[in-house]
Amino acid sequence: MKRYLITITAILLNTALFAQNKAIDPGAVWPDNNGVHIQAHGGGIIKIKNLYYWYGEERRKGLDTNYRYVSCYSSSDLMNWKFLGDVVKMQDPENLGYRWILERPKVYYNKPTKKYVMYFHLDTRNYKYARVGIAVSDKPDGDFTFVKSFRPLEHESRDIGQFIDDDGTAYLVFEDRALGFHIVKLSDDYLSVEKEMSLVKAPLEGGAIVHYNGLYYAIGSALTGWNPNPNKYATSKSLEGPWTAFKDIAPPQTNTYGSQSTMLIKVVGSKSTTVIFMGDQWRPKSQWDSRYLWIPVEIGDGKLWLPEPQPFTINVKTGEFKPANSNH
Ligand code: GAL
Repeated sequence: MKRYLITITAILLNTALFAQNKAIDPGAVWPDNNGVHIQAHGGGIIKIKNLYYWYGEERRKGLDTNYRYVSCYSSSDLMNWKFLGDVVKMQDPENLGYRWILERPKVYYNKPTKKYVMYFHLDTRNYKYARVGIAVSDKPDGDFTFVKSFRPLEHESRDIGQFIDDDGTAYLVFEDRALGFHIVKLSDDYLSVEKEMSLVKAPLEGGAIVHYNGLYYAIGSALTGWNPNPNKYATSKSLEGPWTAFKDIAPPQTNTYGSQSTMLIKVVGSKSTTVIFMGDQWRPKSQWDSRYLWIPVEIGDGKLWLPEPQPFTINVKTGEFKPANSNH
């Protein structure tokens, strides 16, 4: 009897410890390898060799409010994420005062310097400082050290987005309330901004870009704070424009299925290429419970559309996705 119980306990423990997510369930609690809801809000993903790294705002309950935290997770399949820890635990770096802001961290790997360079939105509580901050690390899983903050090409900068083109060139997208949506190229060491590719005169934030079949697709959200709105997209043959007019990416009455754009991930496989829309479903009063809305988009010939969210599996080797039954 005793041995039987031990065996059962061992099996249960094993299942709990190694529970695998068999699908991505948009809007659901998304357990990491410890069974804890992933904390990588307003995040960014990079792929290094065969591993994806997901960085984002760490907003779990009970954090020390004197610090701002950025988490890091790794995955080989985009469905199961291993928590690698908080790679940023930063104290107010520039006397920004009570409730200073660090949001939307994005990490780029710089080959020449072998440094991981993190960009983030750095601000005061009233969002008037409007700068980007940079922190660097020798390893993907930190720790990242604060380097500096600045206004890209002297413009105000709030939400930032990350785009790495197929040729490896790194770009930053940022929103400047006065002028619009900027797409800028980073310098060779990624520690500064080199030049503006486009200024899209549209009041959009949450910028995300993908390069698909020779066309650039840019997505942005309207400026409604934590509340979702109908996100829109435009296309261009070149990052320098001209961009088409912005069109809806989903039925406007759904407010992008209650989410806000953060990034577009392109999974290029042996059989297919899938582009995943990655959005945040913010819960401003309980941010630790904010959810992620990932949807494989319908894309091609200048059109981009988010079908209704449903659980799906993705095969990063073949690049194919398919609907799945909910794993929760
Ligand atoms: C959103 C933005 C978030 C956060 C929020 C604060 O518009 O995308 O990252 O800054 O406003 O209200």
